[in-house]
Amino acid sequence: MTMRFLPAVIFLGTFALRWSVEAGKCPRVCSCDSTKLTVACVDKNLTEVPSTIDEITVKLDLKHNNLQVLPRGAFMRTPYLTHLNLQRCNIVKVKEGAFRMLGRVVSLNLAHNKIDILYQESFDGLSSLKELQLDHNRVEEIQPGAFMQLGSLNMLALTHNQLVYIPNMAFQGLQNIKWLRLSHNSINNLAPEAFASLFTLTRLSLDHNELQFFPTQAMTRPREVTRLDLSHNPMIYLGEESISMAKLTHLYLDHMSLQDLSEQALSQAPMLSHLDLSHNQLHYLDPLSGPKKLVSLNLTANPIYCSCYMRPLRNWASRGGVKLLGACAGPPHLSEEPLRAVAAVDMRCRSKGDQLKDEFEEEEEKMPAVSSTPTAKPKGNVKCPVNCDCDIEAQHATCENGGHTKVPRGFPAKTQLLDLRSNRFHDIPANSFPGTSQVISLHLEFCKIHQLAGGAFRGMKSLFYLYLSDNDLTSLDPEAFSGAPELSYLHLEGNRLAQFPGSALRLLPSLFVLHLERNAISKLEPAGLLSSVTPKLRELYLTNNTIRTIARGALDSALLGKLHLDANQLTDVPIDAISNAPNLEELNLSQNRILSVGPDAFKPVSQSLKWLYMDQMNMEKMSQDSLASLGPGLKALTLKGNQLKELPDLSFLTGLEVVDLQDNPLLCDCTLLPLRRWMDNVSLEVGATCGHPPVLKGQKIRNLDLFKSCTSDSSSTSDRKGLVAPAQVKVKKAKLNSVKAPGVKAKPGKNNVKQPKQTKKKPQRKPVAATVTKKKKVITVKTV
Ligand SMILES: *[C@@H]1O[C@H](CO)[C@@H](O)[C@H](O)[C@H]1NC(C)=O
Ligand SMILES: *[C@@H]1O[C@H](CO)[C@@H](O)[C@H](O)[C@H]1NC(C)=O
Ligand SMILES: *[C@@H]1O[C@H](CO)[C@@H](O)[C@H](O)[C@H]1NC(C)=O
Ligand SMILES: *[C@@H]1O[C@H](CO)[C@@H](O)[C@H](O)[C@H]1NC(C)=O
Ligand SMILES: *[C@@H]1O[C@H](CO)[C@@H](O)[C@H](O)[C@H]1NC(C)=O
Repeated sequence: MTMRFLPAVIFLGTFALRWSVEAGKCPRVCSCDSTKLTVACVDKNLTEVPSTIDEITVKLDLKHNNLQVLPRGAFMRTPYLTHLNLQRCNIVKVKEGAFRMLGRVVSLNLAHNKIDILYQESFDGLSSLKELQLDHNRVEEIQPGAFMQLGSLNMLALTHNQLVYIPNMAFQGLQNIKWLRLSHNSINNLAPEAFASLFTLTRLSLDHNELQFFPTQAMTRPREVTRLDLSHNPMIYLGEESISMAKLTHLYLDHMSLQDLSEQALSQAPMLSHLDLSHNQLHYLDPLSGPKKLVSLNLTANPIYCSCYMRPLRNWASRGGVKLLGACAGPPHLSEEPLRAVAAVDMRCRSKGDQLKDEFEEEEEKMPAVSSTPTAKPKGNVKCPVNCDCDIEAQHATCENGGHTKVPRGFPAKTQLLDLRSNRFHDIPANSFPGTSQVISLHLEFCKIHQLAGGAFRGMKSLFYLYLSDNDLTSLDPEAFSGAPELSYLHLEGNRLAQFPGSALRLLPSLFVLHLERNAISKLEPAGLLSSVTPKLRELYLTNNTIRTIARGALDSALLGKLHLDANQLTDVPIDAISNAPNLEELNLSQNRILSVGPDAFKPVSQSLKWLYMDQMNMEKMSQDSLASLGPGLKALTLKGNQLKELPDLSFLTGLEVVDLQDNPLLCDCTLLPLRRWMDNVSLEVGATCGHPPVLKGQKIRNLDLFKSCTSDSSSTSDRKGLVAPAQVKVKKAKLNSVKAPGVKAKPGKNNVKQPKQTKKKPQRKPVAATVTKKKKVITVKTV
């Protein structure tokens, strides 16, 4: 009693408030229930948490106030709280340690405030918290470790915020999270490890964001996810093995902009039972390989054309008991027929003659047909240039292959995707896209463009993706991109650029990904080339140019994560070029002519490098310690198709998940025993065959008998001690021989699922002695 009395007296003295003794202390503006131990101080314009709330309160409702900043220790006096409601409190900032002492709170509602940054220790102390509502704020940044102390959290709602990018490990610490809600943000990029460490997550909501590509790699990480909602994202295509999620059962891909879907897109989603593809732009669909348990496939509101091309899907669906939802959009006689009601035999493709005749008739009937079919679009009202198609609802306009020689004008004002590929524009003069300020994605591939005038895209304030691939550009006007400041993804591959277009890129402060493959760039200079023009760049693709020289520091860049320099003419590992690239994770040097790799060649990027590709370089020698500074962080190393007889020391690389040593003339003798043991131990599928001695040529190291005659000593006493096996290699799964491009397709990673082609080769997890079962000639081993 005294304990509860004392603060009240102080409060009374200071503010002269009344309270009822029977009801315990109750701040004047609040209403309290002393039996349920609840306090509500709702809609009172409070600027701070009342200091006289009874200590034993379990539920505190402070919604609709004006708290603005939650200071450190704001709730120190109410340690028994289990429910705290701080909705609509005008909170701008939650200071570090604001919730200290609240170890019993299970539900915290911070929705409808103005929080923009989640600081590292904002939620410290909430060790029992199960539900955290942070929706309808202005969160644009999650600092590393923000959720570190929320080990009990089941549900995190971050919907309706301003997130654009989710960094690696953003949700670290959420050891019990079940449902992560990120809907209604502006997310256009997920770091590959954004969802790493979410081992209990079963449901992930990412609908209503700006993802243009399926985030394949990021999605392989939360391996227990069964429901994934990606509806209302502007994705156009899903490629092979886009979705690599072993336990996924429900996938929502509705209301996107899908125009095509590889039949292999879901080949790595074996458990999928419900797939929603409604409200897309699919004209037809192939049977989907992968899901064996598909129950329902929703194709409602797609322009499905029920010709013979749809037959395989129809047959596949009836065979597999897949419920097909949706209707045919054409041909006219099947229009609006439910897919399920149309027999496969009625899905016909006509002979050429019939087709021409029909087309002629359709042409004749066009006007009446359109007005009499209720589904036909009211084309008359839609503003759309000739030879183009404008879909108001989808906010798409396409003039693909429309025979245009000038950029057409007069698109609907709300157009977001403008597809002009395969026309013949030759040059694009200034101000070629008036009235397209809403366009996010502009396709100009295969348009024979050889010149872009300064200001060509002026006024395209929302332009985010620009595809200029496969044109004839030899250089870029420094003002070419002026007036399109949001541009983040720029595709310039397949042109004839002879120089890195540095001056033009200066106008793109947000540039994130730059594609320059298949151009004619031969050198990269001077120092600071990248950091001075595109400081935010994350991915740079320079594959298949003629790069021979790179100035020291030319590719230094604070944020660069991916660098592809493969298929160029480099003769050395260009490590000086990236001496200051602290975030570089992926480096592809394959198909250059780098004959040797010296000691400690990757030192400047050793802290960050995860994927290193050095295939087909004619490499003859790697120093024993060439990879010495790389440690457990390295996940993939490929050295396929070189001329290596010996391998460098791999023993530090205890985090490897992918190793490809195939097609090297390795010298097979007892010095390889440690490698062989390591291979067995880690059950990595290490593709490696012998090149020497001649009698063993072509044999897989995995199948070799010879090790039976080696003693452990014969290797450890050898001079070539480089092949000492790592003492403790922790590798979760057998990996692949062939490495896929990360981020594009299934990424070999911790939780990666094996691909069908490779599954046949089961990893071998047998001790050396046990593998030597076949009777073979014992080989006498030459010492080197
Ligand atoms: C709420 O409090 C703020 C500052 O304490 C004051 O400026 C504002 O007028 C108050 N609003 C209402 C509706 O009482
Ligand atoms: C199929 O999609 C339509 C349109 O999005 C939706 O209304 C309907 O509920 C879906 N049906 C099923 C079974 O998911
Ligand atoms: C490089 O480009 C040429 C011409 O486009 C193509 O034939 C070749 O296959 C490409 N090589 C690589 C490694 O991509
Ligand atoms: C194999 O793994 C075990 C346990 O992880 C380890 O103790 C042993 O040293 C490893 N052997 C080799 C040859 O890597
Ligand atoms: C690396 O470059 C080679 C050669 O161009 C290419 O075949 C391979 O797919 C690339 N690997 C990755 C992961 O990008």
